Amino acid sequence: MENKNLQQRDGFSSKIGIIAAAAGSAIGLGNIWKFPYITGVYGGGAFILVYLVCIALIGLPVMLQEFSIGRRAQANAIGSFKKLKPNTPWFLTGWLGFAAAFVILSFYGVVAGWTLSYVFSAITNSFAGQDPEALGNMFGGLVVNPWKPILFQVIFMVLTAGIILGGVKNGIEKYSKILMPLLLAIIVVLDIRAITLPGASAGLAFLFQPDFSKLTASAVMSALGHAFFSLSLGMGTMITYGSYIGKKENLGVTALQVTIADTAIALLAGLAIFPAVFAFGIEPGAGPGLVFITLPNVFNQMPGGYIFAIMFFVLLAVAALTSSISILEVVVAYFVEDKGWDRKKSTIIATVAITALGAFESLTNSVINFKLPLLKGGVMHSFGFFDWMIEMSDLMLPLGGLFISIFVGWVMTKEDVDDEITNGGELSHAWMGIFEVLTKYVAPVLIFFTFLNLIFGWF
Ligand code: TRP
Repeated sequence: MENKNLQQRDGFSSKIGIIAAAAGSAIGLGNIWKFPYITGVYGGGAFILVYLVCIALIGLPVMLQEFSIGRRAQANAIGSFKKLKPNTPWFLTGWLGFAAAFVILSFYGVVAGWTLSYVFSAITNSFAGQDPEALGNMFGGLVVNPWKPILFQVIFMVLTAGIILGGVKNGIEKYSKILMPLLLAIIVVLDIRAITLPGASAGLAFLFQPDFSKLTASAVMSALGHAFFSLSLGMGTMITYGSYIGKKENLGVTALQVTIADTAIALLAGLAIFPAVFAFGIEPGAGPGLVFITLPNVFNQMPGGYIFAIMFFVLLAVAALTSSISILEVVVAYFVEDKGWDRKKSTIIATVAITALGAFESLTNSVINFKLPLLKGGVMHSFGFFDWMIEMSDLMLPLGGLFISIFVGWVMTKEDVDDEITNGGELSHAWMGIFEVLTKYVAPVLIFFTFLNLIFGWF
């Protein structure tokens, strides 16, 4: 059984497929919905700078660590730790990722459902003639509607499950290779539209002229949490995908390419949104409703707005889909490899359970009067849907990343790590020293303080 599994292990078939799938995972609602809105809330350029530092010093090394763990072990997130350090508690890091995948996909599916619903609203021209207040009510009304978000969430989760049922090569890789170029094309068109609007320069200034007075401690924390979220790190997605990467591929270069692609798309999303927001004199710090309320407003006033609105929400939904599959795969790969279930059974069970949790979370916006619990400032607090989902990922992902860094930096032998990253000595060693310092010291220390701060609210 074990041998059969090894021989038949599904995997990516080409370099371009690896990049499409891994960048597809990274580029998602995080880039196009969350990044612009938290950048708006935290005041623009200065936040972006801190975010870029987090990406370079922590995100990039953690991505390479995850790829290395997965490819070395040839297993899912939980199985990888069991294989590399048998009979130790390290497999719990995999379980933390499994739990994070469950929770994050539950709300990810809800937000992705909203984007699907907005695709329909855009097609049926429902934004036209609505003033800003009506558009606000439209979004507010959707979120607090008991059944409509769940209907679209279910549709979205069925699409996600359908791709995962196809497997790695014929599901994840195939669809990522179609959807990612589509996404890139749409975002470039939207950028050109936004930048050529009269008055766009105020938006560019907001993005690229840092105002450090707005940089609070919680902005720094959010920047780190978002670096993990955006790069799909800390929950074992990149461990799982790493296990599908062929032994000849250069993991360091792949991690760098995925990181650059993800960062570039986040910045392109900011470039598509803020110039338009400023050109029409709209408030940039609108929060989670930024793309759902502010942008329809912008589209209403923009020549060609009808088409651009459709394109934008299709873009969001496509980006969400290539990410949600990578989260579901964390759960499904574990069921298939460690529980021995077939792919179909694994996918159905995982999807039903996660969708049910998400539907429950969605209902906390309307009929269920239940606040989601979370430890903060050393005490249990209750959170509404939006805060809970952000806090949950800001906490679980950096925690997972902390353990992953410690594992690669201090638990795996240096020889094993070097061997995996240089493909057995074939690739250059030149930057290995930097990687080692980042892995052993910089990443764990920075994560440790940031997440203690999140729990205890020290600074
Ligand atoms: N990175 C995706 C986004 O930006 C979301 C995502 C996919 C994710 N897989 C993940 C986040 C794993 C954390 C961990 O939308």
